[in-house]
Amino acid sequence: METIKNYVEIHKKRFLEELFDLIRIPSISAIEEHKDDMRKTADFIKNSLIEAGADLAEVKETTGWPVIYGQKLIDDSLPTVLVYGHYDVQPVEPLDLWDSPPFEPELRDGKIFARGADDDKGQLFMHVKAFELMNRTGTLACNVKFMIEGEEEIGSPSLKEFCKQNKELLKADIILISDTTMIAQDTPSITVGLRGLSYLEVELTGPNRDLHSGLYGGAVGNPANLLSKMVASLTDKNNHITIPGFYDDVLEISDSERSDMAKAPFNLEDYKTALDIEAVVGEKGFSTNERTGIRPSLDVNGIWSGYIGEGAKTVLPSKAYAKISMRLVPNQDSKKIDTLFIDHIKKIAPEGTKVEVKSLHGGQGYVTPIDFPAYRAATKAIGESFGKQPIPVRSGGSIPIVSDFEEVLGIKSILMGFGLDSDAIHSPNENYPLFNFYKGIETIPLFYSYFAEEIK
Ligand code: BES
Ligand code: MN
Ligand code: MN
Repeated sequence: METIKNYVEIHKKRFLEELFDLIRIPSISAIEEHKDDMRKTADFIKNSLIEAGADLAEVKETTGWPVIYGQKLIDDSLPTVLVYGHYDVQPVEPLDLWDSPPFEPELRDGKIFARGADDDKGQLFMHVKAFELMNRTGTLACNVKFMIEGEEEIGSPSLKEFCKQNKELLKADIILISDTTMIAQDTPSITVGLRGLSYLEVELTGPNRDLHSGLYGGAVGNPANLLSKMVASLTDKNNHITIPGFYDDVLEISDSERSDMAKAPFNLEDYKTALDIEAVVGEKGFSTNERTGIRPSLDVNGIWSGYIGEGAKTVLPSKAYAKISMRLVPNQDSKKIDTLFIDHIKKIAPEGTKVEVKSLHGGQGYVTPIDFPAYRAATKAIGESFGKQPIPVRSGGSIPIVSDFEEVLGIKSILMGFGLDSDAIHSPNENYPLFNFYKGIETIPLFYSYFAEEIK
């Protein structure tokens, strides 16, 4: 621990400068225009892996954005850790809500403010620096492989195929991921569950053109009115999802598991204050943490139709659209949910309208066991660096590729994330506290040592 702390202390300024350079490249995977930035970022990571001591690091082409693969294999008899992370980031709009430009990282109140500061550049870079530390201090306890992708924020469309084609190369004992959160700086936790996702877009068409809302209003079905009703009907008064069959595969959690979960510290008043809301809304019969952790949900992510410019225009729109996501729990199948959703939407579309539904992306949920070597190693590592034992927590977020890793590669993942809910990922003013960045770098080498011990 002393060696680790010393190394971090001596090099912390450089670590931060390097992370800033990584963050400055606007690698937004959703926007084609950033093609050159995606490549630049991939090269940057490849080079930092080489500088940190990798024997091999290369930018590998896929059908989409490239993947960086790197490795340092030191001893056949030692276990192999495969580090996964993503170098792509979410779009930055609305720009005017940022207090500083998203790709000009700034330090304020001990936090790095920038897009990607946490999700996931800050978190993946901790792994590169921890790897450097272990190499330079001669403490590397496992073989290491890196797989850093550029498509996580768009649903990882190429990575499953990449895994299928590189099964041998990616062979490892565990996949180590820092792309999740912990409860608080003084309440460390390990994520043991991720939700799955079904994400679809609905297009409802009424008349063949926009109409004068005076001449036709009241006589022709308005797709904006009708789509709003359809969306509203997808949940009932208890906030239960009404799609037939939706809950069929949801695993009910036992009362004892629920009461274990309820032990994780959580303050509803603080939660509401942080969001400036006076009440929470969710499925009847479940707590806030249960609503995100063990129950599925359905949300409109975007909804549009008609005239949204300045002032008023009297128009009865021809079309209305909604982007709808459903967060799923383990055992719910996202393809099956897509089908149930599409069938149901078609059924409830009112007479005189046409409806089209596109599936945008999706993936399965994931649960990590807590009685296996990687979990024990992560617990010991965090326990030592934070001075407090971590609590297992189920997250509401999704990293759909994690279940594919298990399916295709047969390797389990451990979600040792260091983000906080207050990091505002995907939002304006995304940030990452320096405390978490440096603590992460300290904790990762401990994970490697304890994992090597556990596997022996
Ligand atoms: N890192 C997040 C997921 C996350 C964050 C999980 C915090 C748990 C805690 C990831 O980058 C993400 O945003 N995933 C998307 C998946 C989607 C784009 C397919 C999500 O959850 O919306
Ligand atoms: Mn992420
Ligand atoms: Mn994300």
